[in-house]
Amino acid sequence: MKNKVTVVGGGNVGATAAQRLAEKELADVVLIDIIEGVPEGKALDLTEAAPIEKHDAGIVGTNDYKDSKNSDIVIVTAGIPRKPGMSRDDLISTNAGIMKSVTQEVAALSPDAVIIIVSNPLDAMCHVAYDVSNFPKNRVIGMAGVLDSARFRAFISMELNVSVENTHAFVLGGHGDTMVPLPRYSTVAGIPITELMPKDRIEALVDRTRKGGAEIVSLLKTGSAYYAPASAAVEMAEAILKDKKKILPCAALLEGEYGIDGLFIGVPVKLGAGGIEDIIQINLTDEEQAALNKSADAVKELVDTINKL
Ligand code: LAC
Repeated sequence: MKNKVTVVGGGNVGATAAQRLAEKELADVVLIDIIEGVPEGKALDLTEAAPIEKHDAGIVGTNDYKDSKNSDIVIVTAGIPRKPGMSRDDLISTNAGIMKSVTQEVAALSPDAVIIIVSNPLDAMCHVAYDVSNFPKNRVIGMAGVLDSARFRAFISMELNVSVENTHAFVLGGHGDTMVPLPRYSTVAGIPITELMPKDRIEALVDRTRKGGAEIVSLLKTGSAYYAPASAAVEMAEAILKDKKKILPCAALLEGEYGIDGLFIGVPVKLGAGGIEDIIQINLTDEEQAALNKSADAVKELVDTINKL
């Protein structure tokens, strides 16, 4: 039986995720948006590309949540993106409302699905989806660490003129200005970058990673990044659909791990058929732990804001 993945939000992130899912033949894809014609048009366009791209994934565009019934995975990209000068946090009240209604619809129709949240502010949106869906914590996962780590890897590869395939990076914490790139655990062919680059260059790459989303927003001017965010969500979906047991940094509900309780925060997790199958605890220095705590405080503030809405 073919897998089924629903992508909610037919904007740039959602449509690009649908494209990647189909072209990798990971699943039949349902693309949902409230705007009439847009998901239908994009799905038809992708279907017409299939003979050339050589895949047989079905792609349906719809305004009707019923078409999402019994999905294995639901990727939620719905919400408004940032404009230049805005922080991800400025989106909170609009996107919390959208997240609530989307989650109600998809959770009722696909009670066994894994939900991957992409909408911003990411960590706070995970809380909304978790609360509204009543799903167990292993089936509500936030995409951000994979994206932030991919950005860090791209910058490491550009800096050292090595293949991106040789790079590995971990970025923990919330998906915001307080995210915590970990140079000690970021490597090129297994060698920590702390042995390959002077401290000031590492700091520059860390800083660029933290501001990676804003850098794209300031260039695009009318929206935020979508190629890399879509790639990141699809890598997570692939790990789950293929039960790969892949360790990736994702936003997960922590209940005491890393000394944090009751908050969605980016940490390394093991992704397999059950969604988050394990939270990997790595040793942090006092400085790294303090940075993670600061990031958790920033997420907590947003969650408190949502609770007051
Ligand atoms: C980014 C947005 C999508 O980091 O959060 O590009």
